[in-house]
Amino acid sequence: MQRRPRRNRKSAAIREMVEETSLSVKDLIYPLFLVDGSHRKIEVNSMPGIFRFSIDTMLSEIESCLKLGIKGFDVFPAYPESLKDPIAFESYNPDTFYLKALREIKKQFPEVCLMSDVAMDPYSSDGHDGLVKNGKILNDETLVILGRMSLAQADAGVDILGPSDMMDGRVGFIRDLLDENGFTETSIMSYTAKYASAFYGPFRDALDSAPKFGDKKTYQMNPANIQEALIEADLDMNEGADFLMVKPALSYLDVIRLLHDNYPLPIAAYNVSGEYSMIKAASEKGWIDGERAMQEVLLSIKRAGAKVILTYFAKEFASLEK
Ligand code: PBG
Repeated sequence: MQRRPRRNRKSAAIREMVEETSLSVKDLIYPLFLVDGSHRKIEVNSMPGIFRFSIDTMLSEIESCLKLGIKGFDVFPAYPESLKDPIAFESYNPDTFYLKALREIKKQFPEVCLMSDVAMDPYSSDGHDGLVKNGKILNDETLVILGRMSLAQADAGVDILGPSDMMDGRVGFIRDLLDENGFTETSIMSYTAKYASAFYGPFRDALDSAPKFGDKKTYQMNPANIQEALIEADLDMNEGADFLMVKPALSYLDVIRLLHDNYPLPIAAYNVSGEYSMIKAASEKGWIDGERAMQEVLLSIKRAGAKVILTYFAKEFASLEK
């Protein structure tokens, strides 16, 4: 045998030397769920180890994450039904608890990279990402609302806006509006290839944001498609996105690779709630080693070509690195 690949695996020292992919806490963004009020820290049923925080407990959570080296946070608000309406008014109401909390986070921790979702679902009585009329999701009318939401979040100090709604033309629409209003430094991480997925279930539990009728298939992508991701990526790239995101991550590693190979922008991947909960559930039952599964999953997303990973495992991963 001229070639014995096992020689490069014979010791930990050699294995580390020839390791092609490495994961760092710098690659990670930690999603956090916010509720109104104070002294609240409530575990999400379907996501062991993940909580809904009020602003005071969230600030201490961010402080402890910063000590572990996590610098990126994506905050999602959970609104009570009573504050939801068909036009998602709370999303741009300057007095709403969410925008106040974002401001507070940037005030206390100016060094964090703060990200926020742009989509109507947490605020909408229809539970859809866009405006609903006669059972249909309107595109261009939705853009106007997303625009107001984007300006309000940029004004609150958000560093990266994440349009997750999948309406056509939203990246360009938001980019123009931000620039016209002096927010030229606010970045956009577009949910470029966001699929209509079963893996968002636990997230919708966390936010009580499941659609009230139908599904999201007229705007989120069909899991059967990959060529279509190139159309979305082309649009987002040309409309001024700073990052292209693929979501979910695990069933779409081929899409991550495709965008990585075809676009010079940093690729992000969202390791979504259901992907987190699957590992947690199997590990609680003692069926898999949860810690090793987490590391393998994150590594595979990075290996596929993602530079940035949004993951509920961020804190656990960072704690193990310490
Ligand atoms: C809202 C949004 C969703 C997620 C992020 N932003 C849910 C959805 O589109 O229904 C899912 C995140 C996760 O499952 O962790 N548009």
